[in-house]
Amino acid sequence: MIKITESQNREPVFHLQAGDASYIFAVFHGFLLHLYCGPAISDDDPEYLLVRVNHDSVVPRPADTPESWFSPDIAPQECPVWGTGDYRPSALKLRYDGGCVTPGSSATALRYVSHEIVKGKPVIDRQPAVYADENEADTLIVTARDPSAGVTVRLYYTAMRDLPVFIRRTAAENTSTAPLTVERIFSASLDFTGWGERAELLHLWGTWGRERHMERTPLCHGSVSVSSRRGASSHHHNPFAALVSEKTTETYGPAVGLSLVYSGNFEIAADTDPFGSVRFMAGIEPTDFAWRLEPGETFVSPEAVLSVSGEGVGKMSRAFHRLYREHLCRGEWRDRERPILVNNWEATYFRFDSDKLAAIAKDAADCGIEMLVMDDGWFGERNDDRSSLGDLFVNEEKLPGGLKPLTERIRALGLKFGIWFEPEMISPRSKLYEAHPDWALGTAGRPLSVARSQYVLDMTRADVRDWLFETIAGVLSSADIDYVKWDFNRNLTEAASAALPPERQGEILHRYVLGVYELLDRITAAFPHVLFEGCSSGGGRFDPAMLYYFPQFWTSDDTDAMERLDIQLGTSFVYPASAMSCHVSASPNHQTGRETSFVTRGHVAMGGAFGYELDLTKLTPEEKDLIRRQVAEYKRFAPLVTRGDLYRLILPGDTMNGRAGCCAAWMYVSPDKTEALVTFVVIRTTVHPVYFLRLEGLDPAGLYEDEASGVRYRGDTLMRAGLNLTKTWRDGESVMIHLLRVG
Ligand code: GLA
Repeated sequence: MIKITESQNREPVFHLQAGDASYIFAVFHGFLLHLYCGPAISDDDPEYLLVRVNHDSVVPRPADTPESWFSPDIAPQECPVWGTGDYRPSALKLRYDGGCVTPGSSATALRYVSHEIVKGKPVIDRQPAVYADENEADTLIVTARDPSAGVTVRLYYTAMRDLPVFIRRTAAENTSTAPLTVERIFSASLDFTGWGERAELLHLWGTWGRERHMERTPLCHGSVSVSSRRGASSHHHNPFAALVSEKTTETYGPAVGLSLVYSGNFEIAADTDPFGSVRFMAGIEPTDFAWRLEPGETFVSPEAVLSVSGEGVGKMSRAFHRLYREHLCRGEWRDRERPILVNNWEATYFRFDSDKLAAIAKDAADCGIEMLVMDDGWFGERNDDRSSLGDLFVNEEKLPGGLKPLTERIRALGLKFGIWFEPEMISPRSKLYEAHPDWALGTAGRPLSVARSQYVLDMTRADVRDWLFETIAGVLSSADIDYVKWDFNRNLTEAASAALPPERQGEILHRYVLGVYELLDRITAAFPHVLFEGCSSGGGRFDPAMLYYFPQFWTSDDTDAMERLDIQLGTSFVYPASAMSCHVSASPNHQTGRETSFVTRGHVAMGGAFGYELDLTKLTPEEKDLIRRQVAEYKRFAPLVTRGDLYRLILPGDTMNGRAGCCAAWMYVSPDKTEALVTFVVIRTTVHPVYFLRLEGLDPAGLYEDEASGVRYRGDTLMRAGLNLTKTWRDGESVMIHLLRVG
């Protein structure tokens, strides 16, 4: 819902309401000023929220200053621009070639011009974006203009009706008479005044094999920020951060999550000024970004999603989950339970042939597994990671007769078949590189860095993308293929393109991302039945934009169940369980050497899209029996995991019964609260551990039965007193409790 009232100055005040959250901003003498973003409030004109602080003489005032106290440096702005008196980080910085302002200058001023409300959420361009129809959302479009340079900026605000979610986007149109360069354009920027309690930034950091670990850090006067400059959203920081208070918990306190729907360089920053106002902003990281706009051209930013909660970060996450599951993921697989698969990577690495795959598939079929995925190594001369990326023709020594006979063998066993690709890469040792050395992204006259012995293809080039489309489509049409794992195993360096003029080289990193999106659009549209899974050396590109094309993503190359607790629970701050690919692998684990029981590996992997990643032919009959049971269990629980509401009960770093880091627990609850699945894992045991696990999300008046023991509890008892899990636990032991409502 979007309400517009008039302020005392007879200028518009915009009150956007999404679910039970409010976002309010106002026009104040032409400036767009932020007033409030948080749990819903009912006053339509809370102009008193505007802090009128007296400032000192070093703070500039614009020539058309409306009131003596006013300065852009202090005012809470919706789209802060560079060069006209707001010295905090800007959301927009433009450099003008000339026109009506000094050639080469960069000062910009914006004043409100008009606004418009549209039902639903308009499609602005082809970048990945949340979709919503006219019954699901309303969008406000505010137009502002620089009166001197003549540039026009449009700010898009979508308010979801049933979710506490606002979506923002910024578009800059060159309506001046000369070209200009966009040097900085953020998707969203909000100035929070009066946050009160000490504010913290909650974010997800990581590295390869250790993605999305949650960390909270106090804000300071100055900037606290997370970013990627790697050409991809990265393992190192996820394009997400939440502003919380030091007292915020899973169930208590304010949380405003900001998630950027983008797969390239990004920055999310919280900048605190001397008056305690916090500028919270997200957008493209500007280090190597410079986008030329000719007169008449527009640049549209990626979109930023704000999830607002007054009751802790759990609620913030559940709003992200529903939004991304139902309004970002697309296609035939969006709402479907995913096939339980076995992937041969950790089973064989590069050493496999058709017979080996068929042997794994036979055991898989015997255990009830539904799909075999053939990973890296099936093409060119790829017997290790030093060659052949780009040579997507079948290695007939490994797969005699090509893909068709193999897929027929797998299908005859009743299994679906999936395949691995890493399309955006090129090995220096490949036929493709011999034929097209200029297709590698790179700076001429400078040796190219290698990572995993490979270069990156220049995805900014239409001819490269066309060739990739034809080649991938050729493989996917050559046999019955149900699933694709789309990998991306290195970051970008020496980014330059032979196909672009000098003044456009600053566009490369963004153009790369747009090129990937274009290719993914074409491939996913041409093969609508295929289930696509994203991957990037594990979860190095696990971002919302990828979920627009792939309904699931390989969460991490670290398959150790104990490590996965941090990774999966961290990932769950933004991403739904349906999007997290989680596999049971061998013990001792290949990445850490840790031994964990088969049961616990299964319980942890059932926290997402479930599968196996081990050599089934080497398992004991008892282990195969366990797989049969796990497969049957997961088939029953999949609807709950895929579409239920997630409650994080204990994070691995939390304190339980006086000890930090000893347990982890989470639960899924069906939307109608008739069913719940609780998982409890003991990471490090102690003598006589006493554990009471307080549940969440149940109906307090409901009567729930523990399916295994038949014991019945009231919802309020489970949520207030908790489940008594006191017994002797071993390290790495776990339990899954299925509760059904019986009254
Ligand atoms: C990446 C992926 C792995 C596997 C290998 C194959 O590391 O994350 O799952 O596919 O590539 O080379």
